[in-house]
Amino acid sequence: MKSSASAPAKAILFGEHAVVYSKPAIAAAIDRRVTVTVSESSSTHVTIPSLGIYHSSERPAGGILDYIGRCLELYHDSSPLEVTVEMEIPAGSGLGSSAALTVALIGALDRYHGRDHGPGETAARAHRVEVDVQGAASPLDTAISTYGGLVYLDSQRRVRQFEADLGDLVIAHLDYSGETARMVAGVAERFRRFPDIMGGIMDTVEVITNTAYRELLRNNTEPMGELMNLNQGLLDSMGVSTRELSMMVYEARNAGAAGSKITGAGGGGSIIAHCPGCVDDVVTALNRNWKAMRAEFSVKGLI
Ligand code: PMV
Repeated sequence: MKSSASAPAKAILFGEHAVVYSKPAIAAAIDRRVTVTVSESSSTHVTIPSLGIYHSSERPAGGILDYIGRCLELYHDSSPLEVTVEMEIPAGSGLGSSAALTVALIGALDRYHGRDHGPGETAARAHRVEVDVQGAASPLDTAISTYGGLVYLDSQRRVRQFEADLGDLVIAHLDYSGETARMVAGVAERFRRFPDIMGGIMDTVEVITNTAYRELLRNNTEPMGELMNLNQGLLDSMGVSTRELSMMVYEARNAGAAGSKITGAGGGGSIIAHCPGCVDDVVTALNRNWKAMRAEFSVKGLI
């Protein structure tokens, strides 16, 4: 028996890290997918052609293999399984490859076992895997990979899907990740040392995210760039930017972007830039040193 499912990667537009402190966030699914196929086999093993990794169950796990292992523990019986993962996004680029992989694997396992859950249950199961593997995770990444489109996660953790024209956006990524769990732990440590200051920063990110949400609902993308710049300043204050991420952010602005910021956990990974009328200029400028692309959004979630 064999079954497959795929789920999109994502870009966080506003509110990363603050979302871990129950603040709202906005994320969009991007048109790069992770496809997982599971099939009966004589031994359990994982094949990831795009990474050139072949992992048998005897080898130590690590990175995205931890997510696969935890999914199998929770949502599969002990029968041997071949798991094949095709990724259109690099792992660790801050574009939510682990969440997309987790959602797609849960979808493929549900089909394999003839289970039929609604998206709410799938997102909750995937979130559990992320929490188990990372120690802390908001439900944002797994929600967007499950539902697709655009999602506003409110402060009560309710997922609100909405439609808006996001305008011209560019994403550029490094080929290394800051490791989400490590970055989240770094922010938590700063919070412990300076609770009043960090509390104020998180409150201000909340105002930025809510302002962006309100304007997007009115299809007004004019302030997006400036709001991204404001959010970036606060991500820098949280300690999640790096010299290279700041260089990317400023390169985008120099090439004409109205605004730019880290997307995701920081420390490595990706930036996003709002580029009305200047997508090609910004992609060209960023491509000199990094890998950049126009961000195409996906309405399709788990399929
Ligand atoms: O590393 P990413 O792109 O999946 O982003 C993580 C976003 C954080 O807010 C830092 C953590 C979380 O669980 O929401």
